Amino acid sequence: MDRAEALRALEEERERGVAALAGAADLESLEAARTAVMGRKSRFGELQRSLGSMAEEDRRSVGAVANEVREVLQAAAAERLSALRAVAEEALLAADHLDLSLPGHRPRRGSLHPITLAEYEIVDIFTSLGFRVAEGPEIEDDWHNFQALNIPPDHPARTMKDSLYVDVPGHPELLLRTETSAVQIRTMQSQPPPVYVVAPGRVYRRETPDPTHSPVFHQVEGLAVDEGITFGDMKGVLETVAKALFGEERRVRLGPAYFPFVEPGAELGVSCFACDGAGCRICGDGWIELLGCGMVHPTVLENCGYDSERYTGFAFGIGSDRVALLRYGIPDIRMLFDGDVRFLSQWGATP
Ligand code: PHE
Repeated sequence: MDRAEALRALEEERERGVAALAGAADLESLEAARTAVMGRKSRFGELQRSLGSMAEEDRRSVGAVANEVREVLQAAAAERLSALRAVAEEALLAADHLDLSLPGHRPRRGSLHPITLAEYEIVDIFTSLGFRVAEGPEIEDDWHNFQALNIPPDHPARTMKDSLYVDVPGHPELLLRTETSAVQIRTMQSQPPPVYVVAPGRVYRRETPDPTHSPVFHQVEGLAVDEGITFGDMKGVLETVAKALFGEERRVRLGPAYFPFVEPGAELGVSCFACDGAGCRICGDGWIELLGCGMVHPTVLENCGYDSERYTGFAFGIGSDRVALLRYGIPDIRMLFDGDVRFLSQWGATP
């Protein structure tokens, strides 16, 4: 190849190369164009190699042009590379675009369930009287749920309360607790007297649902054991609680009732908050039966290792669901368990 030929070829390569590099559509084709234009096997590569076989003088002048062409091609490649990078960066920014001026999606605020509200209210009253909160499991064994509460295996009181038994290998007699009274036993077993506790919680009974019954419901159990506790103490405490819940003007009455774990046992009625005892749709005869209560049976105290000659106490069980229905004017207990947010959110109180 003579000098003139080589110079023409270099000129062609400059033009062709610059066009190829500038026309690369993305990083990958730029790399391909670079190899095609300047790689070892490219025409430009060949021209550079052919310099070796030229006469000294030609080699010098053609070599200078070849160097110049290489610089031009490298510059064209670099320019295209930065242009393509800028485009990629812009595309990424556009894809990641966040409009901070748009209003956000505020999560809907939940509210406390009416049963929880009633439970908090009841527990607050008792803690202000010096009671502390105790807890027990919802899955109980036969001994805590029945036997220790003076309900032996053949006792008729079981029939109406027998609950759902739970099949756990190695634990023959587990059931969903039928009343929070089992927490009385667990509390007394775990500490010496005096005891002043309330135990709110969920209980289960074999019950057909209707406006006033549900197979799942809630109670707040209470237990006070100390030296010299009397039936009068119980009445005083429960009257205070009834008034705190339903108004200072309320009167209370105690009527006889049977629960195997208390003696004597009683039912506490409170004069109706709606008609003040005259009789109405809510109460019927003017009285609302609020809770079961009584003096802790000596056998129960002894079952827990307490000296029943020295200590006496009272216990009670308030239905939290019932309090919620009365306090919030809810006509059907089943509404508490339907989970309809339109209904439940009416109380609006947030945790
Ligand atoms: N556990 C009883 C019930 O479920 C209520 C109660 C508790 C009665 C404590 C007396 C003493 O009906």
